[in-house]
Amino acid sequence: MSTLELREVVKRYEGGGETVNAVDRVSLSIGPGEFVALYGPSGSGKTTLLMMAATIMRPDSGSILFDGRELGCLTTRESARFRRETVGIVFQSFHLMQGASALDNAALKLFALNMRLNEARETARPWLERLGLGHRLEHKPSELSMGERQRVAIARALANKPRMLLADEPTGNLDSKRSREVLGLLGEICAERDIPTMLVTHDPQATAFVSQVYTLRDGTLTEGLDLDLHTTVSG
Ligand SMILES: Nc1ncnc2c1ncn2[C@@H]1O[C@H](COP(=O)(O)OP(=O)(O)OP(=O)(O)O)[C@@H](O)[C@H]1O
Ligand SMILES: [Mg+2]
Repeated sequence: MSTLELREVVKRYEGGGETVNAVDRVSLSIGPGEFVALYGPSGSGKTTLLMMAATIMRPDSGSILFDGRELGCLTTRESARFRRETVGIVFQSFHLMQGASALDNAALKLFALNMRLNEARETARPWLERLGLGHRLEHKPSELSMGERQRVAIARALANKPRMLLADEPTGNLDSKRSREVLGLLGEICAERDIPTMLVTHDPQATAFVSQVYTLRDGTLTEGLDLDLHTTVSG
């Protein structure tokens, strides 16, 4: 049973001649089977926080632990391996391979884990089918709608059976029915596999699916929903 724990995590950016406190002493613990939604205005530090939990970015200070293991101590090589084997991540901008089919994109992490080509494709296929893309397996990202690309990115994040799930606005391009399906699916995976799950979202529907809600504002985290969603949803 795994827990993702952030302790007093800080991340600053230097840019445009100023310092931005993107994430400011954030502490948060997400236990096994806990589904957390993170709301916050644009620029409040949500993606930065997620990138640190995914070991793509290192905090300036504070610590991030998974299963009690300090992720900040991992070498570049170890963190790449940790992401491959342990983390399921849905990026805000998808990061799909442009030349590869939907099926191969969904199977990407499995190829990276040295699974044979056919086995990787057969493992990834049901995820695409579950996300309503069974009829688009051979389409390349440029031949897919934005919502379809988003769902390929979700299939890829789930296909390697991650032990923690991080999703950055995974319903940002979906209609409300499809959004509910995706939120329901993430909730099911989180509960079935008993894994910590963090969802960054502007979607007001998400509150109905998650076990805990947090709001990030100027890098500072508070418990609960501290936003007027009707004025910030489109943000
Ligand atoms: N590489 C960078 N250099 C300098 N500033 C950055 C950099 N990346 C992000 N920032 C700043 O850090 C803050 C947090 O950015 P972040 O992408 O985490 O916000 P976000 O909450 O995910 O926003 P959105 O809802 O628009 O995706 C923003 O004010 C942004 O301008
Ligand atoms: Mg973001």
